[in-house]
Amino acid sequence: MAKIALLHGPNLNLLGTRETHIYGSVTIADIDARVAAAAPGHEVRAFQSNHEGALIDYIQEARTWAQGLLINPGAFTHYSYALRDAIAAVRLPAVEVHLSNIHAREEFRHKSVIAPVCVGQICGFGWRSYLLGLRALLDHLQDQS
Ligand code: DQA
Repeated sequence: MAKIALLHGPNLNLLGTRETHIYGSVTIADIDARVAAAAPGHEVRAFQSNHEGALIDYIQEARTWAQGLLINPGAFTHYSYALRDAIAAVRLPAVEVHLSNIHAREEFRHKSVIAPVCVGQICGFGWRSYLLGLRALLDHLQDQS
């Protein structure tokens, strides 16, 4: 059984009402429930914050209990070196996910400073990006064991 820390960054608490033409109408609670349902036999602990430091604290704490990180860093994706350093520091395998295809959007979204410290990145599949990311992370953990 693996324990997975599921992190959602800023503004993702507004999913369901926020720019639904881009992000869809699924809420963060729906996503958390769907990820948990897709991980039978595993434990997924979800956390959302609009604050960089709170996300960093959660990642640092996850070092003590989690085997992997599934993270949608929101806009922090594009500029948070502190979040990137936290992921690198804890040395937990991480998969970055995005609902939207960040590479097909505004230029500032094309760059992820988080992706280089992740196993990989999945984007563009709406809420299913999280399920694809979960599968990739669990398979990666299996390969490592
Ligand atoms: C996002 C993409 C980011 O560019 C944006 O700032 C978000 C959501 C996504 O899931 O598509 O907040 O991470």
